[in-house]
Amino acid sequence: MRDDLPVNGYSDGDVDTNFTNNRDLNSIVAERYSRRDTLLGGVGATATAFLGTGLLAACDSDLFGEDNTVISAGADGTTTTGNLVTLTGSVTSGAPNSVVWEQIGGPPVTLISASDTTVTFIAPAVSAATPLTFAFTAVGSGTTDSTTVTVNPAVLGFTAVAKNLNDVVTVPAGYTVTVMTRLGDPITAAASAYNNDGTDTDFASRIGDHGDALYWYGLSAAGGRDDNSSTRGLMVQNHENLNVVYLHPNGPTNVASGPRPAAEALKEIEAHGVSVTEYRDSGNRTWSYVQNGSFNRRVTPNTPVVFNGPVRGTDYLKTVAATAGTSGTGTINNCANGHTLWGTNLTCEENWAGYFRRSGDDAARTARELTSLRRYGVTSSTGNYAWSSAGADPIYRRWDARATGATALDDYRNEPNKFGWVVEIDPYDPTATPRKRTALGRLGHEGAWYGKFIPGKKLAVYLGDDARREYFYKYVSNATWDAADAQSANRLAIGDKYLDAGTLYVAKFNADGTGTWLPLVFGQVPNRPASGSDPIYVFADQVDILVNTRLAADAVGATPMDRPEWTATNNVTGEIYLTLTNNNASLRPLNGTDAANPRHYNDPFGAGNSAQFGNPNGHIIRLREGADDPAATTFTWDNYLFGADSATADATNVNLSGLTADNDFSSPDGLWFSRPQNPSGLVRPLLWIQTDDGAFTDKTNNQMLAALPGTVGDGGAKTITNTGSGGATATQATRVGAAATAATLKRFLVGPKECEITGVDTTPDGRTLFVGIQHPGENGSAATPSSNWPQSQTGTASGRPRSAIVAITRTDGGVVGL
Ligand code: FEO
Ligand code: CA
Ligand code: CA
Repeated sequence: MRDDLPVNGYSDGDVDTNFTNNRDLNSIVAERYSRRDTLLGGVGATATAFLGTGLLAACDSDLFGEDNTVISAGADGTTTTGNLVTLTGSVTSGAPNSVVWEQIGGPPVTLISASDTTVTFIAPAVSAATPLTFAFTAVGSGTTDSTTVTVNPAVLGFTAVAKNLNDVVTVPAGYTVTVMTRLGDPITAAASAYNNDGTDTDFASRIGDHGDALYWYGLSAAGGRDDNSSTRGLMVQNHENLNVVYLHPNGPTNVASGPRPAAEALKEIEAHGVSVTEYRDSGNRTWSYVQNGSFNRRVTPNTPVVFNGPVRGTDYLKTVAATAGTSGTGTINNCANGHTLWGTNLTCEENWAGYFRRSGDDAARTARELTSLRRYGVTSSTGNYAWSSAGADPIYRRWDARATGATALDDYRNEPNKFGWVVEIDPYDPTATPRKRTALGRLGHEGAWYGKFIPGKKLAVYLGDDARREYFYKYVSNATWDAADAQSANRLAIGDKYLDAGTLYVAKFNADGTGTWLPLVFGQVPNRPASGSDPIYVFADQVDILVNTRLAADAVGATPMDRPEWTATNNVTGEIYLTLTNNNASLRPLNGTDAANPRHYNDPFGAGNSAQFGNPNGHIIRLREGADDPAATTFTWDNYLFGADSATADATNVNLSGLTADNDFSSPDGLWFSRPQNPSGLVRPLLWIQTDDGAFTDKTNNQMLAALPGTVGDGGAKTITNTGSGGATATQATRVGAAATAATLKRFLVGPKECEITGVDTTPDGRTLFVGIQHPGENGSAATPSSNWPQSQTGTASGRPRSAIVAITRTDGGVVGL
């Protein structure tokens, strides 16, 4: 363990340490250990076992060596998990040949040498006060001293950020913000710098708009996959949508009436999708991106993709451009994500339905098609940005999903069936074609986050369908997890193994705190009853269920939720958390609550106290699988945390988590537990909560909080009284997690004006946090931007706003948040 130290060349006649034969240090240590053992009267068996070939622990006082060298390891100290600890030894007398620090007690940490006398380490995750002991030794003099650092469990080690409406990213004292990739930044060598005045083109070579979920994929110094690298990596980010007013010189042209200029439509199309961009630390977390990184890539709505899983090759996916039903073009409205232990990224197609022009062709559609199209909302008369009006080129024409040809092979009537999927991308292979994983069902997919990977157990992927009264799903693989698959060179083939064959379930939350995963399996799913103008829907086969997953979930009686967004997995407990952003009075009325979606109340907005009834502030539910098995069909649950305005909410019936000015929030959306590769993801993992709010923006811009949650059931059953707009009341029984405290929930960040905070990850060491700032200034115009971020972050109050990623670090080098 210390063979690399310079131990030869020093001979002062000391009887213990004759280096003249170039003895290795271990033998010297063994000799000295034996000698001190005698000197001190022996050491206990435990210490003997631990010390091994290490140095002997002595008392804390400065020690004299046989040559009268005097050294000190410094005073004992205490710290908490995640802090950067510096040990500074000193030589107060004598001139030893060399000095060395070594750990001699407690859970092992990695010592980083800053100089001969100074080393640093990150305080590890502990569940109780834990002493770590270190020896400082003058090599060759027989002199050693020790010091003890007692590590206490993780705390939220920062001062809460106050709510504010400023046009900057606000972080706690002691933290630094670096703006990273922004909308329009070039990611190829040839792409020009971004003018940010609406004249820029070629977004297939630039960072897209509306950055959403993100994830770090480490690279080694040599440029290969390295899951543990915290200094070089690939940032994979979704680009969900557009602040279209800022993309053109004077805003977009002819959106309502068409025809759209083709150049505008192309720019808008290419600004969607996914980006892969290399990030590098040039030393001590000094971050920048690499414009010509060899892995840099854009996946856009025009990128070729293939379909995998049960729906591949079926009639549902056949169009004039893809007659075999096996291939397609691109991905859109990529919202949240997932990552896999085999090194790939899962990007999720959320609000894809609105991009298509479709209305007016009912007479050419079957009743089954119309039921499906209405259920998914493919009903627009133009499509969001009227791209199909821009020309006959398939790039534009495909966004017209009307049945206008003789058959489905003559038009794009089935193009909407090619969206609403989870898409797997290999960031380490820029040439790999993305694969749409149809076994995971077709939804308004928010995210696709895994449960714990347990060798020998099946994998579970948790899937929110983000719309009001939509459902929460789980996919369970047929294959059981083989840890050897994690480092396979053929990553998408591993994806085939786990993501193309399995069972899809939807959640039913029972009032007693239990729940059931209902299988969406042909033969077990009843007909979907008639609804509105839609007749009864009889499922044809399993493929029908996977294409029309929402209809199947209706049929089995799943629990309609208050907008299921991100899921996050606590890698210690295995518990799954799900944000439920909000709901309104018409879709969560006073007498329409249930135990899992229990609240109906008013949160007055703005100076005029405009009424906001329903569940405008949202909540976070969590569950624990039966027997902690990802494939379980039953679970237990409670509501971990409820959003509220602490200044105005009824403390008994609305502010159920006891929020204060330091941690009140509304509309939770992004959700992520810290990586288990560093102390913030171990023992009691840190949870990050991001908001996508419109109800609390009279008091604060959107924000991010850090939390140290407990476990399902740490609170209890509670019956609340809800109050409707006319003063009527109704009671609702629910399950409420332990109330939040200053120690368990704290506001970490507030974003700039009119942004959403979405996208979060850290480097594996936890010392750099990456956060996505989406659509700052979303309500402004090209002539009068309502935010100047990110220019405003460094004091420039001008220019069009841009979505961007920020890197956040502690100036003292510790793990972020702790
Ligand atoms: Fe794209 Fe549901 O957030
Ligand atoms: Ca309010
Ligand atoms: Ca979201």
